[in-house]
Amino acid sequence: MRWSRPISPPHPLLVVLFVALCSIPGTTSSRLVTLDTIDIFTTGKWFSSKPTLYFRCNGDNMTYLPDVKEANLIYTFKGEESWQPLTELAEKKCKRCGLYDDDFFKDHVFDEWEMCSTEFKDGKYTHLKEGQFNATFLCPNCTASAGDSAAHHSGSEVEPKKTSVAVIIVVSVLASVLVILALFGGYKYWLKKKRERDQLRFLKLFEEGDDMDDELGLSNEI
Ligand SMILES: *[C@@H]1O[C@H](CO)[C@@H](O)[C@H](O)[C@H]1NC(C)=O
Ligand SMILES: *[C@@H]1O[C@H](CO)[C@@H](O)[C@H](O)[C@H]1NC(C)=O
Ligand SMILES: *[C@@H]1O[C@H](CO)[C@@H](O)[C@H](O)[C@H]1NC(C)=O
Repeated sequence: MRWSRPISPPHPLLVVLFVALCSIPGTTSSRLVTLDTIDIFTTGKWFSSKPTLYFRCNGDNMTYLPDVKEANLIYTFKGEESWQPLTELAEKKCKRCGLYDDDFFKDHVFDEWEMCSTEFKDGKYTHLKEGQFNATFLCPNCTASAGDSAAHHSGSEVEPKKTSVAVIIVVSVLASVLVILALFGGYKYWLKKKRERDQLRFLKLFEEGDDMDDELGLSNEI
């Protein structure tokens, strides 16, 4: 007698787990750029000497720098000012940004340039325009995912990796438990079927026994 082991269909929870495993979010980090220091060498103004500086990247709003009033003075910022951060960069796409002085007739352009996340070294990038200004920008997450600076690891990048490892471990343990449960369920099902078949065989044996009795009875009568 041959019993085929029942193959149970994949448990719905296993399917859910598989989908969850495939959709674990990657280590996406926002590359927010803040102004660290600025030193303007000229005020672009025609009539008044007080500049009204603003910074703007393509697609962003203007950001006024209300504190910068004097030329040839280094202004240092904490990065927490109400107007920070200046902008956000994509991983492999530069943004065209500029520094301007808001003027009555025509805004003075200090400079317009391409700001790229790959140009940040250790999260810092200096832009110098001869005779116009010198500014340093901070973006801790820009270098963290650049890949080329393997020696440098910022804490903000290590943490998401740790959590994803933990998630993978938990999901693997859950998946193993589910697989064991599924196998156990399959085994129980197989045992049940085996018992049913055994009972059927037993009953059949009885019927055959009856038949044999009849035949024996007949032969006895003859
Ligand atoms: C760096 O990325 C993390 C993760 O998205 C984010 O929480 C953090 O605010 C980012 N820091 C900066 C300065 O952009
Ligand atoms: C620009 O400013 C407006 C109004 O404050 C705001 O709704 C919009 O989201 C801003 N756009 C960007 C790209 O920051
Ligand atoms: C520009 O600013 C940075 C940071 O303050 C400084 O290290 C650098 O020497 C400055 N360069 C010039 C030419 O002023």
